[in-house]
Amino acid sequence: MTEYIDYPVTNTFGIPAKAARFVEYADVDELRRVWENFVGSGRPEEILHVGAGSNLLFLSDFEGVVLHSAIRGIDVCAEAADGKVCVRAGAGVVWDELVDYCVGRGIHGLENLSGIPGEVGAAAVQNIGAYGAEAKDVISTVEAVDLHDGSMRVFEVTECGYGYRQSVFKGKWRGRYAVTQVCLTLSRRFDPNLEYGGVREALRAGGIVPEAVTPRQLRDTIVSIRQAKLPDPMFEGNAGSFFKNPIVDRAVYARLHAIFPDMPCYDAGDGRVKIPAAWLIERCGWKGRALGHAAVHDRQALVLVNRGGATGQDVLRLCRAVQADVRERFGVELFPEVNIVGKVKE
Ligand code: EPU
Repeated sequence: MTEYIDYPVTNTFGIPAKAARFVEYADVDELRRVWENFVGSGRPEEILHVGAGSNLLFLSDFEGVVLHSAIRGIDVCAEAADGKVCVRAGAGVVWDELVDYCVGRGIHGLENLSGIPGEVGAAAVQNIGAYGAEAKDVISTVEAVDLHDGSMRVFEVTECGYGYRQSVFKGKWRGRYAVTQVCLTLSRRFDPNLEYGGVREALRAGGIVPEAVTPRQLRDTIVSIRQAKLPDPMFEGNAGSFFKNPIVDRAVYARLHAIFPDMPCYDAGDGRVKIPAAWLIERCGWKGRALGHAAVHDRQALVLVNRGGATGQDVLRLCRAVQADVRERFGVELFPEVNIVGKVKE
């Protein structure tokens, strides 16, 4: 276990924030020791578990203990006669390295989730998703340490409470479990998922016949679609989509559609529809607009960026201004997808 005091916490928004303590553990035994030292001992410090910091907005320094998993390793645990493959990865594995590992070994099912920043543990907490695929579709079990009593628990996927960017780990049990390993059920059979808008077009534009696409070509195409739309945090701080796409009842959408006939929507099941938040934000005139050092990205209105020197409070101010305009114009509430940490300065 490695412990640092007053340590800068990496985050892709590029916002300076320090943790009073930052503790990194390399395996489950170390995590148990961390638990004994900081949690089980009854110390009153607040705990924040982070991955790569790609979905975090710090409003202030963090006064408690920040935990980070350095549990690595990817193993193929089992292969069934029907082609199903079980892959187990440590929470600290970089998600895209897992995708690359699988694509390189003829193990399929993760191609559409290529290029997503972050680590395996956070992917399971956040139920990451893109291009018609979600982590919950491939996760079979999530192993975690209960930070209340230090015990180990294995969650079946059905116990994880998965929904759109939602799980019990960020919902009712927020902060309680530290994910250690994740098992995925993947396949030797390549059954490409090309249904999400723009994927087939992007393949054709790259000279690839969609019906004949290889796993590597699909992965590369998804990465290039992402690169074309999403800002690179190395040059412009951001945390990907800042807001979730709002889900409303069909009746609400019908009323809106009567006024705004070009408003897009996607079926969200249970008689509800998902409206692209980017469309709502763009229609309010925010695309490419800045408020101080924070701005709405000019190629994807769902992304807020740090134009350089922004504080968490600047980004929050922009977030609130965008929410207020969308609420006023469409009567729709936008909720942040990014995890906001720290104290709000009013
Ligand atoms: N749109 C606009 N203006 C824009 C961008 C998009 O009007 O500036 C509209 C268009 O109608 C477009 C629709 O929004 O067809 C959907 O856009 P896109 O396919 O780019 O996806 P998204 O809804 O904006 C979601 C995820 C992304 C994921 C993409 C692709 C959320 C919150 N975001 O974005 O995830 O990469 O789909 O599947 O669900 C992330 O979570 O950080 C993330 C980037």
